Amino acid sequence: MPEIPESIAQHYHERTKYDPETIAAKSKQLDWEEQPVPFKEYKIGAYFDLKPYLKNTSQESEVDPDVSWWHRLSRLLLCSYGLTARVPTVDGSPLYLRSAPSAGGLYPAEVYLISRGTPHLPAGLYNYQSRTHSLVHFWDSQVWQGLQAASFWSPVLENTQLAIAITTVFFRSSWRYEDRAYRRIFLDTGHLLGNIELACALNDYRPHLIGGFADQAVNQLLYIDSEQEGAICLVALADLLDIDQNLPKFKTALPGTTTIDYPKISEGQLLKYLHKATQLESDTSGSDGWKIDEIEEQLEDKYNFPFCTKVSTVTPSIPWGFNMENLENTILKRRSTRSYTGASLSLGELLTLLDFTYQPQHYTDQGLDGAPDYFDLSLIETFIAVLAVNGLEEGCYYYAPKAQELRQIRFKSFRRELHYLCLGQELGRDAGVLLFHTADLKKAVGKYGDRVYRYLHMDAGHLGQRLNLAAIQLRLGVSGIAGFFDDRVNEVLGIPADEAVLYITTLGRPRS
Ligand SMILES: Cc1cc2nc3c(=O)[nH]c(=O)nc-3n(C[C@H](O)[C@H](O)[C@H](O)COP(=O)(O)O)c2cc1C
Repeated sequence: MPEIPESIAQHYHERTKYDPETIAAKSKQLDWEEQPVPFKEYKIGAYFDLKPYLKNTSQESEVDPDVSWWHRLSRLLLCSYGLTARVPTVDGSPLYLRSAPSAGGLYPAEVYLISRGTPHLPAGLYNYQSRTHSLVHFWDSQVWQGLQAASFWSPVLENTQLAIAITTVFFRSSWRYEDRAYRRIFLDTGHLLGNIELACALNDYRPHLIGGFADQAVNQLLYIDSEQEGAICLVALADLLDIDQNLPKFKTALPGTTTIDYPKISEGQLLKYLHKATQLESDTSGSDGWKIDEIEEQLEDKYNFPFCTKVSTVTPSIPWGFNMENLENTILKRRSTRSYTGASLSLGELLTLLDFTYQPQHYTDQGLDGAPDYFDLSLIETFIAVLAVNGLEEGCYYYAPKAQELRQIRFKSFRRELHYLCLGQELGRDAGVLLFHTADLKKAVGKYGDRVYRYLHMDAGHLGQRLNLAAIQLRLGVSGIAGFFDDRVNEVLGIPADEAVLYITTLGRPRS
């Protein structure tokens, strides 16, 4: 049978792999003079200050619904992408860190709020200004219908009044990571979506993801220059205090085209080429486009290995406290760990991390969404390298979320190899556990076309954020790693070669 040619997403993935043979030749010196500023400025616009609504105003807001409305929006944005730390740097200008992590601290994502027109927020476009925790109203006409049309009349915009649009300013990340930045941009946004999901639950909103939209139409709606910045995700915010906005789940990902007849693309042009090739112009999914196809739900975990060691991961859930206040505190104090001691995690800790991340249905009685939106988790698999977990043999395991068990595929200590595979980063050597999210790209492209490359990375980042928050709550250390020797990871750990590694989350005992 003739081989089906690689699609552009597969080609991009192959071309942006880090390989020990070529990485040195490919890396360029960073031009610090050129480093982009991760904030957007508006010359004109009306500002809505959200700071006064940060204080714990529970008593005041109980009596005043207007105060309560602002309080909810203010907390939602702070917990999603607000500033949560100020770090001094050698050149004197502070580095601001946010509630969502970002590869290299470059923060390519911008968050916009679109209002249909509510008594509190007049219709139009707003940019979230994290530096001042305010919204700038830079366009004040009715844009909702334009948003609905650009989102192919997604049913989740019918009754909702507010939507978030996440864009990316490409150069903020490609300045450092060049073509491979595209992967990190979407992983970052996935982390941001993880925060949005949980911050919404804390503030009585339900976020509905919209991954299928006409890219150029949304860019025009937001008045952004498509060469510099592009919309990458929309989120309808359903206000759960309004009965009409309690909506069922709809599809979040729409298919796009699969491009196989692309020209020879030079280094430095791959990111832009892939982005353009994965844009949607129209909805090709047919009349049932947004309806969830129940038959599609997978019943079994992808991998089972006869005679392998299996460990049940069923465990008690994290108690997030009264009104889930510990969850909000955890979101606001989360930081990526810079160094681990190498000491062991307990098996209980590992199981709790997995439970919070992959079993959201165990958290409904605490007020969290039991089935939050992802784009398509059936395409993502999880492998875990155990370096030091008391009560669990070292080796590589497949995590079967449906069966809720770990299935061992290799026994070995991988410390030395993982240090190397993570490009010499000590986080990879000293962690207790490294967790790998993977996907069969060929199959994924077969289902959604090349646009799936975006969906996969956002979903992997979203899972990564849940791991981050569970780890912080358990007083463990955690950090993402998006730079690794792609193919060697599969070889060393025994992860099937069809599974493209998307992202690594390291977990361990932090060095204080
Ligand atoms: C997609 C992604 C990739 C990352 N990759 C690395 C990495 O390879 N090495 C590392 O030390 N930190 C990595 N980080 C952590 C970032 O450096 C960190 O999020 C950023 O400095 C901001 O700090 P904070 O997470 O404490 O807010 C990554 C984070 C994300 C979201």
